Order: sequence, then C-alpha cells, then structure tokens
Amino acid sequence: MSEIVLFRLEIEIFMVRKEITWLGHAAFKAEIGENVIFFDPWISGNPMCPIKDVKEIEKATLVLVSHDHSDHGFDDAVKICKNTGATFVGVFELAQEARKRGVEKTVGGNIGGEVKVDDITVFFTPALHSSSIGVPCGFVVRTPELTIYHAGDTGFFSEMEDISKLYEIDVAILPIGSTYTMGPKEAALAVEKLKPKIVIPCHYNTFPQIKQDPQEFKRLVEERCRVEILEPGKSLIIP
Ligand code: NI
Ligand code: MN
Repeated sequence: MSEIVLFRLEIEIFMVRKEITWLGHAAFKAEIGENVIFFDPWISGNPMCPIKDVKEIEKATLVLVSHDHSDHGFDDAVKICKNTGATFVGVFELAQEARKRGVEKTVGGNIGGEVKVDDITVFFTPALHSSSIGVPCGFVVRTPELTIYHAGDTGFFSEMEDISKLYEIDVAILPIGSTYTMGPKEAALAVEKLKPKIVIPCHYNTFPQIKQDPQEFKRLVEERCRVEILEPGKSLIIP
C-alpha cells in the first residue's frame, strides 16, 4: 500500500464520528459513522432523560433492549423502531413481542450467540438478573470502528473475563447502582475482568434505591481504566 493510500485511510478513520450520549439510567445513544444505535431507550417517565418524547428521535439504525423491565424502555424501543424504521434487537422472545407489536425489522438472538445487522455485529452476553419475557442479557456491539459492551442489568459474573478473551472492548457501560445490579465494588471487579479501554457507569441515582457516588467507582478503577462519568444528556466523543 502506498503512503498516500495509508494517509487517506488514516484520515477516513479519523473522521468517523464516534459519540456516546447518556440518556439517563441505562439508556444510551451511540452515533458511530452513519449508525445511530440506542441501548435500553427508556424515554417516557425517565426522570433523567434529556429527551422528553420519543417523537423527538428522528434517526435510529438499531435499537437494543436488554430485558423487559420498564426502566429499560421496551415500549419506547417499539415506538422508536416504528417511527424511524430501525431494527429491533433483543433475545428471541422479546424480538417476537416487538414483531407482535408491529415492528417490521426485528432480529432475535440468544445468550452466547451473535447476530449481524448490516455492518454491525451484536453478541448476546449473559446477565444475572430477572425478566418476564425471555431472559435478560447484555450486548457486545461491534462496528468497524468501535466495540461497546452494554451489560444491561446484571450482577457480577466471573465469565466476564471470557468476554474480554472474545472481544477487545473499547467502551464498557456498567451498572453501579447496587440493589438490582452490581454496585461500585462489583463493577470495579467487572472492569478488572473485562479490561475495557473506557468505562461509563450507569443505572445509579435515578431513584432512591440506587443512590450511589460515581466518584467512589472512579476511585476504585481509575488506576486500570479510563472512567468517564457522564451527566445525562452529555456525550463522550472518542477520537
Ligand atoms: Ni431490570
Ligand atoms: Mn434496571
């Protein structure tokens, strides 16, 4: 490859947009190149969400929901998919439910498996949690430019180490609220196992049961990993 071609490639890679916005709780928007990916988009009734109405969301490529608890936005995910034509991704039973509710493009998978939607690959991780429809899960989402692990709601599990053997995680999104999920201490152990380049804590301070100091989490992990504590509505831009 000539130097000119290499230089062009570098510029192209540099110019790809890689931006992750916290929408409060476990809800995130990842804008990577032309893709707009939503994770657990709890919009309606989410006291931390900067978007007040799903109708404000005009573009979405992929909408992933980790499980059907109301604070993870399955209802809103269905609306976003219907409004934008985005593809819904979730465990088989949840994807079936989305289809029943009128979502045209749904892709169901299950723990340990992988699905592909255009240039995005989604691996379904386990999540130690509960749900009414199917089972809860987490997602490793890989685009050509970035690999994100959104853990969903989960307690700590030691197989997180194996996830790091399968995928090099650029950004890990982990719950730290305790009560229903990992707390700061467990999430710090998760970081040790997952070895992400960047970690973003979530699922805390939305309601009294999950009150936490994210700085405590930061203190526990900052030696081994870059910690990004976001404010709801604020974005992390990855170079
Ligand atoms: Ni839950
Ligand atoms: Mn939850």
